[in-house]
Formats: sequence, structure tokens, C-alpha cells
Amino acid sequence: MASNRSLLVLPGDGIGPEVMREVYRVVEWMDHRRHVSFALQEDLVGGSAIDAHGVPLADATMEKAQAADAVLLGAVGGPKWDNLDFSVKPERGLLRLRKELGLFANLRPAICFSALVEASSLKPEIVEGLDIMIVRELTGGVYFGEPRGIEDLGNGERRGVNTQVYTTSEIHRVARVAFELARKRGNRVTSCEKANVMESGVLWREEVQKLHDAEYADVGLEHMYADNAAMQLVRAPKQFDVIVTDNLFGDILSDEAAMLTGSLGMLPSASLGDADATGRRHALYEPVHGSAPDIAGKELANPIATLLSFAMALRYSFDLADDATMIETAVQQVLAGGLRTADIMSTGKAKVSTSTMGDAIVRELDKQA
Ligand code: NAI
Ligand code: MG
Repeated sequence: MASNRSLLVLPGDGIGPEVMREVYRVVEWMDHRRHVSFALQEDLVGGSAIDAHGVPLADATMEKAQAADAVLLGAVGGPKWDNLDFSVKPERGLLRLRKELGLFANLRPAICFSALVEASSLKPEIVEGLDIMIVRELTGGVYFGEPRGIEDLGNGERRGVNTQVYTTSEIHRVARVAFELARKRGNRVTSCEKANVMESGVLWREEVQKLHDAEYADVGLEHMYADNAAMQLVRAPKQFDVIVTDNLFGDILSDEAAMLTGSLGMLPSASLGDADATGRRHALYEPVHGSAPDIAGKELANPIATLLSFAMALRYSFDLADDATMIETAVQQVLAGGLRTADIMSTGKAKVSTSTMGDAIVRELDKQA
């Protein structure tokens, strides 16, 4: 029977295709052992699309992305395309996807697997059991606000300008994502801005509070200045459940939180758009890491970030939370058993290849089925 779960896979460049191979094995496993199937399509993005079509994302690919329930992306970019003009660089393919799919909420989980507490830069007792979710506004704020630019003041000085802009509806829609997520997790939201020095932060705080009081009074809400949040993340990160914040602070706080957990090769992400009348929303899932040209083609890449991104797709786009949990548990078990790819800092553990890690995860899945 043809599946009605449509997933567009864009492996991209560098290690992208290598880590995606391990996802395909899990997809196959789900088909055989769970009788859950997907209508899979694969296409090009980034440098590989430039080589084939002269553009980092062809219109036909964009149409497939619009039609799909979810997009799973590997990574884009690499030295081969570094000297191209910014308008045709591999990264533009990703930016086009984000923009045309209207992906305004970026979800960045920071989970510390207990087998990897030694890989964190913080003390074990501070990160053990850490499970937080940062929701970053992705399409507004100071990265996009007008006016912007560099102007010549004519007196030998130049002036660089960027403007932080947020409207009520932009704040509400991202805060709504955070409150909905919190209800399925620890039921607490921390909203971060700088209301002490920025008017846009005052608006952010007032509007998040209003939405909370009107529709999410059952969820705990705390407001915190973003600089304090940066300190709290390294002092006592387990105090957080869901953090919601703007584009700029979210960029920084999500990278900071990521470093609490060990390796770049472990970190998934999701970007979500608005829900339509049927509850369906555009969504893009991708590892946080890039195309890692230094290790591409060497079977050294850690596939876990991409596998966990696929698990997020199961949870947020396909209503398959049980299957998502199975993958996350399999990852946990494999790490607990001592398996490590080279990116994971650890002492006295043998380092295994991309496909050996994939093998082990599928074997763990078998034990659960
Ligand atoms: P990177 O994330 O590709 O690599 C940084 C370091 O982490 C490298 O030493 C790499 O070997 C290692 N690493 C990354 N992912 C790994 C994995 N899964 N397993 C094992 N080791 C891993 O970032 P970098 O080096 O700054 O950028 C390389 C290229 O990737 C550039 O062209 C950049 O523009 C692009 N990039 C693309 C992103 C995307 O597609 N979303 C995000 C970040 C960078
Ligand atoms: Mg960043």
C-alpha cells in the first residue's frame, strides 16, 4: 500500500549523504518491523544542486518541499563552493527552504545522555539528566528588521545599522509553539528578552504573558533577562524546561546549551511553520552540524544527530511519538554500551565508523521491537 506519510530527503554535501544512509536503514527497519512506511523522495540541495542545476535549490525541489509533510536535510556547503558569490552559495538553498516554507520556530533540544556526562564541559552532577528545549524565533528580529545597512556619514565616519522588530502576531505564534511543547514535557516555559533595555523586549514580555493568561494558564511561565539566562545555563541548566526567545538571543543561547551536551555530532533540530486548518505544518529537520569536509568520505561521521532529527520528524510531523522514543532509547543504549564515533570525547572507548554506529542502533531497535 502506498504510504501517505511524505518525506523529502535532501542529503546535501560532505558527510550529509553518509549520515543519511543510516537514516534509510532505520526507515527500512520501521517498514519491516513496525509496518510504518513513508513515501520517500530524494533530491539535491546545496553544492550538489549547484553542480547539477547551477542553483543551490531548484524550483522543482522547492515544489516537492512544499508538498511534503516534512523535509529531512543533511548538510550543505564545502570548500569546493566557497568562492562563489553569496547569492548562489550552497547556504542559499537552506535559506530559501526556511523562507518559503515559513519556518518561524527553531527547536533545539539539549539533552545530556547519561553515558556522555564525561563529554560535557561541566561537572557531571550539573548536566546529568539534562533535557531542555530551546525555541528560537527564526524569521524576524534584528537579522531581518528594517532599516539595515552600512551608510557613509560623509564626515569620514560610517554607520552600521540593524533593527530589532517584532509584531504581536510574530511573538504569539512562536510563544504558542513553546507553550504547546511545554504541555507535553515539564509544563514550564522561560521566556527570555532584555525588557530592561529594549522596547521590543517589553512588547515580547507583555505579549507572552497575555497569551499565557488567556490560553495557557496551566503552564508555568517565568520571564528572564537573556544575559541572566546565559549565566543560568552554565550554573544550573536543569532549572529549565522550555526556553522561548528571539532570533538573536536564541542563536546564542541554543549554541551555548548545545555545548553542555558533548558533541556536535549528537545534536538534532527542527524548524516549524504555521499550522493549516488540518493541523499540518511545514517542517524541516536537520542536524545542527555542517558538512564536515575535513572528515567527509572517511566513514568517521557520527550519524546520531541526523537520526535524532529523523526522530523529531516522527514526533512532530507524523504523530509517531512511540517510534521516536524507540530511536532515542536505542541511541541511549548504544552509548551506554560504550560505542563512540571519533567526535565524542571519551577515554578508553574504541572509536567506530559511521556504519558500525548505524548497525548497533538498528540492533538495539530490534531488541525493543
Ligand atoms: P561543521 O559542523 O561541518 O564541522 C565542525 C567540526 O565538527 C569539524 O571538525 C567536523 O569534522 C566536526 N563534525 C561536524 N559534524 C560531525 C559529525 N556528524 N560527526 C563527527 N564530526 C563532526 O562546521 P564547519 O567546519 O564550520 O563548516 C563546514 C561546512 O559546513 C561549511 O561549508 C559550512 O558553511 C557548512 N555548514 C552547513 C550547515 C548546514 O548545512 N546547516 C551548518 C554549519 C556549517
Ligand atoms: Mg549559531
